[in-house]
Amino acid sequence: MTTDHETLANLLKEDRRFEPPADLAAAANVSGDAYEHAAKDPGAFWAEQAERLTWAEKWDTVLDDSNPPFFKWFTGGKLNASYNCVDRHVEAGRGDKVALHWVGEPEGDTRDITYAQLKDEVSQAANALTELGVETGDRVAIYMPMIPEAIVAMLACARIGAPHTVVFGGFSADALASRIDDCQAKVIITSDGGYRRGAPSALKPAVDEARTKTSVVEKVLVVRRTGQDLGENGWDDDVDVWWHDAVGSASTEHTPEAFDAEHPLYVMYTSGTTGKPKGILHTTGGYLVGTSYTHHAVFDLKPETDVYWCTADIGWVTGHSYIVYGPLANGATQVLYEGTPDSPERGRWWQIIEQYGVTIFYTAPTAIRSFMKQGREIPDQRDMSSLRLLGSVGEPINPEAYIWYRNTIGGDRTPVVDTWWQTETGMIMISPLPGVTAGKPGSAMTPIPGVSADVVDDDGNPVPNGSGGYLVVTAPWPSMLRTLWGDDDRYVDTYWSRFKKQGYYFAGDGAKKDSDGDIWVLGRVDDVMNVSGHRLSTTEIESALVSHPKVAEAAVVGATDPDTGQAVVAYVILRENAGDGGADIVKELSDHVRKEIGPIAKPRQIMIVPELPKTRSGKIMRRLLRDVAEKREVGDVTTLADSGIMDLISAGQATSTED
Ligand code: WTA
Repeated sequence: MTTDHETLANLLKEDRRFEPPADLAAAANVSGDAYEHAAKDPGAFWAEQAERLTWAEKWDTVLDDSNPPFFKWFTGGKLNASYNCVDRHVEAGRGDKVALHWVGEPEGDTRDITYAQLKDEVSQAANALTELGVETGDRVAIYMPMIPEAIVAMLACARIGAPHTVVFGGFSADALASRIDDCQAKVIITSDGGYRRGAPSALKPAVDEARTKTSVVEKVLVVRRTGQDLGENGWDDDVDVWWHDAVGSASTEHTPEAFDAEHPLYVMYTSGTTGKPKGILHTTGGYLVGTSYTHHAVFDLKPETDVYWCTADIGWVTGHSYIVYGPLANGATQVLYEGTPDSPERGRWWQIIEQYGVTIFYTAPTAIRSFMKQGREIPDQRDMSSLRLLGSVGEPINPEAYIWYRNTIGGDRTPVVDTWWQTETGMIMISPLPGVTAGKPGSAMTPIPGVSADVVDDDGNPVPNGSGGYLVVTAPWPSMLRTLWGDDDRYVDTYWSRFKKQGYYFAGDGAKKDSDGDIWVLGRVDDVMNVSGHRLSTTEIESALVSHPKVAEAAVVGATDPDTGQAVVAYVILRENAGDGGADIVKELSDHVRKEIGPIAKPRQIMIVPELPKTRSGKIMRRLLRDVAEKREVGDVTTLADSGIMDLISAGQATSTED
């Protein structure tokens, strides 16, 4: 992510425009009149989109707004998400169509899975979960690599109405345990491991460790992926069950039950501004309507001819909405890739695009920037003329990366859709429509049809064109989060109290409207960092650091980083009895964060400092720490209780080691 300052500067000088290609515009799924049509009667518009799905019972009310901010959508309606993503395509005669072109990281390790095969596997897994004691409403944790079974597991949970909580495979045992505990998941689905950077990387040991920290888990269903040795105590006959035994032997017949539109579909944990992750709750009907419509509209998916590929991990919301639910509800054929972009060679992604003739490609700016650094020679070795549309998500895309993406990957032909949304919104909210909107490098442009968003000032008044403020959503949307798992108060407080009077949803992002009224998202305005497109909370990492016996106090900031957007920089005060902490203190602390949260939260830099800059009321002034981390001139220090501290810190009287 670029800094606000940089983005604003770009915005002032950025006047490039890319009109939609004529052929794409002529055949686009959604045309320009959708905006007006939706604005006239949003309820009717979303009801029309809901008709794209198969309902067992039709809804009575599109939007129940009788108890804001606890909105309900399509109440009275009943449907099954798994049926909509799988069975109905088979029933429509498309059973032989490939749903997943799965590509394992080891070369040649691939599987093509048709919709008919997917239906059989999902049915088997649903039967197996029921056999393991999972009932409708029970929570199931999924901690898996990017293998087809991960998608099968999610759909099997949805099929029996057991909300899943997928925990990113890069999270530690502790992070896994706290999520399992928070939503009381009684079954975990995992695998022995997955392949990363050419080697098997274990997952099961983290599950075993997580189980020692919580008592709710009854069964662990394990996919054999790598065949790696599980170790002496790596298998518990009372708890662990092999997937190939339980699922492999189950019947392929399973009748999906229709659930209420508001039945919980999943809980996805994401970082907030406190140490405790928030369990974002999504329900069934509205979520599926929102994700399938936006996938159809923003990616212009033609299910019969397109090959779609989203590179996200299923452990994040992008994987949920734009690998699993949106694309499968639309009957897409997609690529699913297990590994890292650079294994076994740096052009692996481009090789996959060439091999499968990928037409629509969705990735994150951080990945694009890392490819830019490697140079265009690598993608230029591949024929990527199949591509017709590119998407970006996760953080603001800087114009330079946008242009490189469009030119080098998209052959200067393809539109780039810069899609703004969040775990909470469930679906894409602000984005160009590829057949309608001229792209401006760096701008997410306008809310999609049916969505109302704005940029407002402190008092909730819309800012005029050319000004900045807070990004808000001004009307409910179908795939909105319904609450935070087990914490209605925090839900109201976090999202709905800032602009209570207006009843606006507060997204936590700053944004600016340009002279045409198009929206440029600038980044978070709270203590949430965005590292490689992953949300991390400063407070969560601070708590992790403070839990180390040598640490008295810690402050964490997100500093601008040319590769990862932001990077974690930590300032730590040691306890008196820890002395100078010892020679390995920085590594020790860094490993500790890795253990507590996971490798993604590992600080780029840890500085041992004698004091932290605080206001007289004791609040840490992170702004100043960011200045030091970014090696800028330190800003205004007049509100500091002891203004000498910043001199101490910036004069480098601190142990600073890049890890
Ligand atoms: C940021 C990922 C600018 C933003 C789908 C948001 C973006 C947070 C964009 C949500 C974009 C996401 N332009 N910023 N196109 N997309 N963001 O929950 O700060 O992991 O609030 O959802 O990422 O991150 P989350």
